[in-house]
Amino acid sequence: MQRQVTNSTLNVYKLASTSATAARRLDATRRHFSGSSSRMQAVNNMTVFGGGLMGAGIAQVASQHGIKVTLCDLTDQALATSKTMMQKSLSRIANKKHPDSKDEQQAYISSVFDNVTLTTDPALAVKDADLVIEAIVENIKVKKELFRMLDEECSAKTIFASNTSSLSISEIASATSQARRAKFGGVHFFNPVPQMKLVEVIRTEETSDETFQSLLDVCKRMQKHAVSCKDTPGFIVNRLLVPYMFESVRMLERGDATAEDIDAAMKLGAGYPMGPFELIDFVGLDTAQHILDGWRQKVESGQADSLSSDLVAPSALLSQKVKEGKLGRKSGEGFYKYN
Ligand code: 3HC
Repeated sequence: MQRQVTNSTLNVYKLASTSATAARRLDATRRHFSGSSSRMQAVNNMTVFGGGLMGAGIAQVASQHGIKVTLCDLTDQALATSKTMMQKSLSRIANKKHPDSKDEQQAYISSVFDNVTLTTDPALAVKDADLVIEAIVENIKVKKELFRMLDEECSAKTIFASNTSSLSISEIASATSQARRAKFGGVHFFNPVPQMKLVEVIRTEETSDETFQSLLDVCKRMQKHAVSCKDTPGFIVNRLLVPYMFESVRMLERGDATAEDIDAAMKLGAGYPMGPFELIDFVGLDTAQHILDGWRQKVESGQADSLSSDLVAPSALLSQKVKEGKLGRKSGEGFYKYN
């Protein structure tokens, strides 16, 4: 009896100390994200590196809201594909804005494209940039190389941001000078960018108040809802969404249920707009794999206490599909087949 009392008293102390630690952390988090909006730098010229689904979407939404955007990619062909994606999306938007007039639809689309410049020349792309957003391949070496080059090329006032979904912003920023790191943050958009309202704005330990406020302001001008997060694996959305997607894949691997039934269950039982397999196909199986591999490396190198090794264990089914080029909607097949 005596022992039980002692244990339960200990548990009460432990709980009290855990909740005191949580309260202290929450306070520190509030301080980390607080700051005056009067201290910010206006963004009139934005440069986006990478004209894929995300980069083209970011460029489109910024230009829709009056920001002058330069979109830079490696080849003219890549840029032509970006333009086609923007054109398709803008047609849907123009159709809703001006349902009765093809001329007005066209005028709207042209007015948006007036704000967009496409180039394969990185130096030219950043000549007047107030903000550079990187949305290139999820490879830390390639991203660091790009930012190292941009740090030399850009004016001291240019703010840098990465749209990475899985890599550490601080690690990417470490490729730049000490002064630039204060002007470096994360802006994580969601697919499809023109439709999804959220942006996660990531503030590292080195991001200045002015940079953080400028990033929040540019999201507001793009009519996005910004949430703030520290530089932690997956930030908010992917930290919750990715474990859910992988748990679904593991259910399928165990043969607990079919992909169709798991998707139906989450749409009809939990109100999600897409089931987890539709979502992985939409996001791209290669992207999902990149995130998983990146997290596993972090766990293995002891850099991510908050991730469990079970969560980041490789998935044979996912790896096989990626190896076969079944990357989801973009390749015509993932967990489902597409026309
Ligand atoms: N451009 C412009 N408008 C678009 C669009 C685009 N690319 N895609 C969809 N829309 C609009 C449509 O015009 C339509 O508008 P309306 O309601 O005013 O008519 C509306 O979005 C709905 O589109 P649809 O009718 O074509 O199709 P659905 O109703 O099936 O919706 C969806 C499609 C918006 C993609 C919806 O299924 C959805 O929200 N899915 C979840 C997407 C999601 O979770 N994204 C986040 C993925 S995680 C991520 O991106 C992070 C990364 O790091 C991995």
